[in-house]
Amino acid sequence: MGLTRDFFIKLSENQTLNSAAKRYGLALGANKVVAGVDIPSTIKAIRVLNDKGITATVDNLGEFVFSKEEATKAKDEIIAMIEAINESGVKAHMSVKLTQIGLDVDESFCYDNIHEIVEKAQQCGNMHINLDTEDYKHTIQTFEILDRLKGEYKNVGTVIQAYLYRATEDIDKYQDVRLRLVKGAYKEPAEIAYQTKEDIDENYIKLIEQRLLNAKAFTSIATHDHNIINHVKQFIEQHHLDKNQMEFQMLYGFRTELQQQIANEGYHFCVYVPFGQDWYGYFMRRLAERPQNLQLVTKSIFTP
Ligand code: FDA
Repeated sequence: MGLTRDFFIKLSENQTLNSAAKRYGLALGANKVVAGVDIPSTIKAIRVLNDKGITATVDNLGEFVFSKEEATKAKDEIIAMIEAINESGVKAHMSVKLTQIGLDVDESFCYDNIHEIVEKAQQCGNMHINLDTEDYKHTIQTFEILDRLKGEYKNVGTVIQAYLYRATEDIDKYQDVRLRLVKGAYKEPAEIAYQTKEDIDENYIKLIEQRLLNAKAFTSIATHDHNIINHVKQFIEQHHLDKNQMEFQMLYGFRTELQQQIANEGYHFCVYVPFGQDWYGYFMRRLAERPQNLQLVTKSIFTP
């Protein structure tokens, strides 16, 4: 399992394949997990979700941004999507990866970009902006930028990765910030992160309980793991917690029947909706997480 995960994570980091993939549109089955390549098709996909009682957090796909021009283009696309969500009235907010808007170019330039995004979102019905977390170096920078933004804005939050040993302290620190809790998608060394599925799952449950008991802000539990989801539901019942203070999240196209079932049970449910041409790295990370997702690739090759 480790080997397969490492293999696809390496593929996700390959810039040559990433650039090549952009030229081919949504290939290899990526159309099953990427909502659209442009804003109108993505808004349409969100409406379909909304009609089923499910909201969306929208991600403008983009990797390996190393120039100010590319970062500014990405920032403009994100702002255009915020405006489209606002104008169309769909129930959705945005997720943003700071590397896409210049974190590797210049931190203060990136700060100006995210500041503009959060300000625009506030003007558009106080829309929430989630700062996705990435590999460790960028995650720390993301927290530093959040620390600057959260003094000025309430409509911004981030993601805590349960594989990191430091996650407990971060959950404590961000009690009054809207958080998404995940297991963690990158490969991190044993000095800073749990390595086995058992250890990560155990810490994930511990963090979820810590957060649900102490939070002063909304919480998203983002996982496809039915064992964790069932545990969370039981925990909420046992402790008489308010269902309206939390939601479950899954990625677009994964476990859609389970998504609908959870929404029908009266829980808030939000789907992470990626869109755009730059689907390759996102798709490879999904294959790294779960080798069975390779079925998406084989089906796309063998289905005419
Ligand atoms: P995991 O992959 O550990 O699977 C556990 C079990 O669940 C499996 O053994 C299987 O039984 C079942 N299962 C899982 N997927 C299934 C499927 N498709 N079909 C059937 N059964 C399935 N990471 C990060 O580092 N930063 C971030 O900002 C985010 N953001 C984010 C948002 C959202 C909405 C999600 C869902 C995830 C993220 N992640 C993330 C990714 C996250 O860290 C993690 O890598 C993946 O969610 C995979 O872990 P899971 O908890 O989903 O289950």
